[in-house]
Amino acid sequence: MIYLIGFMGSGKSTVAEQLSERLGLPFIEMDAEIEKQQNMKISDIFAKHGEAYFRAQETSFLRTLEDESIVSTGGGVIVTPENHRLLNEGTVVYLKASWETIVERLQGDTERPLWQGELEDKKSRFVERLPVYESLADHIVEVDEKHPKEIVEEIFRCLNH
Ligand code: S3P
Repeated sequence: MIYLIGFMGSGKSTVAEQLSERLGLPFIEMDAEIEKQQNMKISDIFAKHGEAYFRAQETSFLRTLEDESIVSTGGGVIVTPENHRLLNEGTVVYLKASWETIVERLQGDTERPLWQGELEDKKSRFVERLPVYESLADHIVEVDEKHPKEIVEEIFRCLNH
């Protein structure tokens, strides 16, 4: 299993989809799968059941994965310690975006429940998570100012070494 991890807005879904084509492996978007299972949008899951419930869905979902695939995770998949073990059973690629890139890309986003409120709080979450992404990663790919194609090729090279 190849897991793409990284903060919201780091490009996990776009890159995972293109990487899956490059490698000829299925593409799995965790958030979309959880939305299907729950028949609700992520923002509604958070509003109705809360974050802890959503985190539990992420863990259950990771446990069901079997066939080698490219998995685009949600940015907070690393919040749950149990998930660390599950992720590290596969290969973990961290798409590392700078704070400036994230802010630029997510400006005006009203869909993501954990990208609401004060910028300072969002930054604290980013700063807190950074070392966790890094410690879980088998490969770290910097994504600032790169085209998805370039990122895919970089990951492709990492995986083949
Ligand atoms: C979250 C990131 C989201 C989604 C949920 C929580 C997070 O996924 O799983 O809103 O805690 O960072 P993306 O990283 O695809 O935005």
